[in-house]
Amino acid sequence: MDLSGKTILITGASSGIGRAIASKLSGENVNLILTARRINLLEEIKEEDKTKKCSYLLLQCNVSNKNDVAAAYTEIKDKFGSVDLAILNAGAGHYMNVRNYNSQFAEKIYGTNLLGMIYWIEQFLPDFLERKNGIIAGVSSLADNRGYSGSSFYTSSKAAITNYLEGLRVELNPYGVKVITIRPGFVETPMTSGNKFKMPFLITAEKTADIIIDGIKKEKRVIQFPWQMVLLTSIVGMLPGWLYELLAKQQHKK
Ligand SMILES: NC(=O)c1ccc[n+]([C@@H]2O[C@H](COP(=O)([O-])OP(=O)(O)OC[C@H]3O[C@@H](n4cnc5c(N)ncnc54)[C@H](OP(=O)(O)O)[C@@H]3O)[C@@H](O)[C@H]2O)c1
Repeated sequence: MDLSGKTILITGASSGIGRAIASKLSGENVNLILTARRINLLEEIKEEDKTKKCSYLLLQCNVSNKNDVAAAYTEIKDKFGSVDLAILNAGAGHYMNVRNYNSQFAEKIYGTNLLGMIYWIEQFLPDFLERKNGIIAGVSSLADNRGYSGSSFYTSSKAAITNYLEGLRVELNPYGVKVITIRPGFVETPMTSGNKFKMPFLITAEKTADIIIDGIKKEKRVIQFPWQMVLLTSIVGMLPGWLYELLAKQQHKK
């Protein structure tokens, strides 16, 4: 997709990966819709853009609130008519020790990562179907491949997203609507800054944004990176359950 002149929605644009993508696209000739709860951070992105090539719409929106998402889409329709590319990136993670087991974490993580994506797609899909075009780029994770200790709400939300996007890709193909699954490895962002464990092949949010924008322009089905983590997680994903659990147990003892 040639992004020039296109209307692009980015959720979770206030921080980390979403912010890096927004900052890179802000130098292009596009209509940029940036959403997050912290609107002051979205305003910073607009102020930092000295090129003035881009037309902005900044929207405060909690993706886990369906009414908020519907209201935000009404504003988008009023200003730009619709969206050509939706980068659905908003996400939440929470390390959870089983001793602090609490369904509130699950409500937050599923509400943001999975339902947040579904609520947004519900808004613009009728327009995409009618026009027979549009790109949905949803951010999942390479951690969608197995249940990982301490983050099973997060990894299961990402497994659901990857599966959901694959189903949508197949179903929307005859309608000319493209669905891209984005599967990053570890990225240096506020989400990972507190992690106590080793994060192999960690990359910056800026590099991540470059890879994602390039993959979207090429309309790849799946954008996954860095290749070392793709390889590693594919191998881990292929291990028989008993072996994976044995290795995880040994890791736990360290
Ligand atoms: N960092 C990694 O290693 C990594 C790896 C694989 C996948 N990912 C995925 O990449 C995406 C971005 O993560 P990140 O690392 O950039 O994290 P981040 O810096 O914490 O950014 C998360 C973004 O999501 C927004 N958000 C969170 N809850 C929201 C809600 N209820 N409503 C609206 N917006 C909400 C935040 O904005 P507000 O707080 O202002 O609302 C923020 O802009 C997530 O989907 C994450 O799961 C990250």
